[in-house]
Amino acid sequence: MMLDELWATLSGVSGAALACCFVATAVALRWSARRKARGAAVRARQKQKAALESMDKAAQRFRLQNPDLDSEALLALPLPQLVQKLHSGELCPRAVLFTYLGKAWEVNKETNCVTTYLADCETQLSQAPRQGLLYGVPVSLKECFSYKGQDSTLGLSLNEGVPAECDSVMVQVLKLQGAVPFVHTNVPQSMFSYDCSNPLFGQTTNPWNSSKSPGGSSGGEGAIIGAGGSPLGLGTDIGGSIRFPSSFCGICGLKPTGNRLRGSLIGILLGGRVTAPLALVSKCKIGLKSCVYGQVAVQASVGPMARDVESLALCLRALLCEDMFRLDPTVPPLPFKEEVYRSSQPLRVGYYETDNYTMPTPAMKRALLETKQSLEAAGHTLVPFLPSNIPYAMETLSIGGLLSDGGVTLLQNFKGDFVDHCLGDLILILKLPEWLKGLLAFLLKPLFPRLSAFLSNMRSRPAGKLWELQHEIEVYRNSVIAQWRALDLDVLLTPMLGPAMNLSDPGKAKGAVSYTMLYNCLDFPAGVVPVTTVTAEDEAQMEHCRGYFGDMWDKVLQKAMKKSLGLPVAVQCVTLPWQEELCLRFMREVERLMTPEKQPF
Ligand SMILES: *[C@@H]1O[C@H](CO)[C@@H](O)[C@H](O)[C@H]1NC(C)=O
Ligand SMILES: *[C@@H]1O[C@H](CO)[C@@H](O)[C@H](O)[C@H]1NC(C)=O
Ligand SMILES: *[C@@H]1O[C@H](CO)[C@@H](O)[C@H](O)[C@H]1NC(C)=O
Repeated sequence: MMLDELWATLSGVSGAALACCFVATAVALRWSARRKARGAAVRARQKQKAALESMDKAAQRFRLQNPDLDSEALLALPLPQLVQKLHSGELCPRAVLFTYLGKAWEVNKETNCVTTYLADCETQLSQAPRQGLLYGVPVSLKECFSYKGQDSTLGLSLNEGVPAECDSVMVQVLKLQGAVPFVHTNVPQSMFSYDCSNPLFGQTTNPWNSSKSPGGSSGGEGAIIGAGGSPLGLGTDIGGSIRFPSSFCGICGLKPTGNRLRGSLIGILLGGRVTAPLALVSKCKIGLKSCVYGQVAVQASVGPMARDVESLALCLRALLCEDMFRLDPTVPPLPFKEEVYRSSQPLRVGYYETDNYTMPTPAMKRALLETKQSLEAAGHTLVPFLPSNIPYAMETLSIGGLLSDGGVTLLQNFKGDFVDHCLGDLILILKLPEWLKGLLAFLLKPLFPRLSAFLSNMRSRPAGKLWELQHEIEVYRNSVIAQWRALDLDVLLTPMLGPAMNLSDPGKAKGAVSYTMLYNCLDFPAGVVPVTTVTAEDEAQMEHCRGYFGDMWDKVLQKAMKKSLGLPVAVQCVTLPWQEELCLRFMREVERLMTPEKQPF
C-alpha cells in the first residue's frame, strides 16, 4: 500500500532528480560523519598539546629548583642501576620522574610519540610504596592500557572523549610495585598495522631517522624508549606489535605467552570483588582497549620493552606478584623463576636463516649468522630447525583466525571515520562483499598466490568452520612442539624483520609479518634483541633481496629498507610456552655476546 503510493509519487519525478537526491543525502551523511571525525581530531590534538605543555612546565619548574642535578648522568643509568640508587636513597624519585619528563618532552618534539601526559603521576609519586620492586621508576604505557580519566582512543574518533573509569590491572600492579606511569604513547589507527600513525595524533617517527617508521603497533613505546625518554614501557603484541618497534628502534622487547600477563577478566575484579554492575563490567573490561573483543584463535600478549634485557626481566619479576594474581585470578599464579633466568647451562639452540616466506634482508641474515657464530664460540650447540608449514600457519591459521568474521567487527570502529594511510588498503579490502573477495582471490591465485591466500582467508565463516580452524591451530601447535622435542631443543634463534622501513610502507608489505606472527599463532614466548647495525656492504647487497614471490609486497619491502645505513638490526629468541624466564636468559646471553658494552652490570 505504502509502497504503491511512494512509487506513484516517485515515478512523477525524473530519474535524474531522484539520483541527485540519493547522492545528496549520501554526501550529507558522509559530510556530517566526517565533521564529527574532524571535531574529534581537533579536540584530541588540543588535549595532547595542553598535556605536553603541563609536562614541560613541570619539568622546567623542577630544573629551576634543582639547577645542580646532572640529568645526563641520570638518563644514562641503565634501569637496574637506577632502581638500585632509588632503593638506596642515593637518588630521589622526584628527580628521576622530572628528569624523564623533560627528556620525554624533547623526544616527543622529534618523534611525536606521546599522546598524553598522565599528570597525576606527580601526586602518585608520594604514594609509591618504597619496598616495591619498581619504586620510583617512570613507566610509559601504550595508549591501549586503560588509565583512569584518560582516553584510550586507538586513533579512532569514536573513542575520543571516552575516558576510562578505572585503571587496568596492569596499571594497578605497576603502581603497587612503586612504578610511576607517566605518559600514554601513540599507536597506528585500530592497532592493525606495524606502522604508527592515526588521524587523531598523526605520525610517530623513528628516533634514528625521521623518514623511517618506528614500527608498530607499540610504535610510540619504541620511539620514546629508543630515544631515551623512558626507561621502561608496556606494549601489546598480536602479530609482532612489541617486536617490530623494538627491532626498528634498536631496543629489547618480550612478547610472553598470551596469558602469562594478560587474563581474560582484565579490569573487572578490583580488590577481589566485582565492584561494578554488569553493564559497567563490559566498559571496565577495557583494562586493555581493543577494536575486537572475543577473538581468541590468535592470542594477544602484554609485554615489556626497554633498553636492555635485565630491565625486561625486572619488569616481569615485578608484575608476576601476589597482587597480580589477586587482582586478576585468570592470570596463572606462576611467579618469576629466578633460577632459570640466572642459569648458565649451555643451550641447544635451533635456528633458521630464512623462513622461505619473507626473504631476509642482507643485514637480517648477517645479524642471524654472526649471533649463531658467537653462540657456538661460547659453547652452545646450534641445530638447523624450521617450523613446518609456515605459509599455512600464516595464511590459513593466522589471517583466518584474526579475521574469521570477515573483518566486520574491526570495520565497525571505522564508521564515519577517516582511514589512516598507514593501514594501506586493508579497510578497503575488508569492505568488499564476500563474493567479490572470493572472486578476486580466485583471479589472483595464478599470479599472486600469497595475496590470493590472504584475501581468501579474510572471508567470514560460520561457527562450525571457526571451531575447525581453532582445532587446526591446536594440531599445528602440537606438531611444531613435537618437531622441537625431536631435536631436543631448549630455545630457538630466528631472524627479525629489520631495519626500519620507510614511513607508511608497513601497510603495503603485510606479508612481512611472517617472522613474528608465527609465534602468536603458536603462542610461544618470543623476544628481540638488537645485535648489529646496517653496514655499507649490507646496503650494496640489498639489490639482490628480491623476495620469494615477486608480488607487490616483496617490491615494497625491497625499496622500503634501502638507505638504512647505521640503523639497528635485531634477532628473535623463542621458547616453548610458559618459558619466559628461559627466553629472557637466552636473550641476555645474546646481548652479552653481541653488545657487551650494554651490560648493565
Ligand atoms: C634517512 O632515511 C632516508 C630514507 O628514508 C634517507 O634518504 C636519509 O639519508 C636518511 N638520513 C640519515 C641521516 O641517515
Ligand atoms: C627453502 O627454500 C629453498 C629453495 O626453494 C629450499 O632449498 C630449502 O630446502 C627450503 N628450506 C626449507 C627448510 O624448507
Ligand atoms: C624510501 O625512501 C627512500 C629515500 O627517501 C627512497 O629512495 C625509496 O624509494 C623509498 N621507498 C619507497 C618504497 O617509497
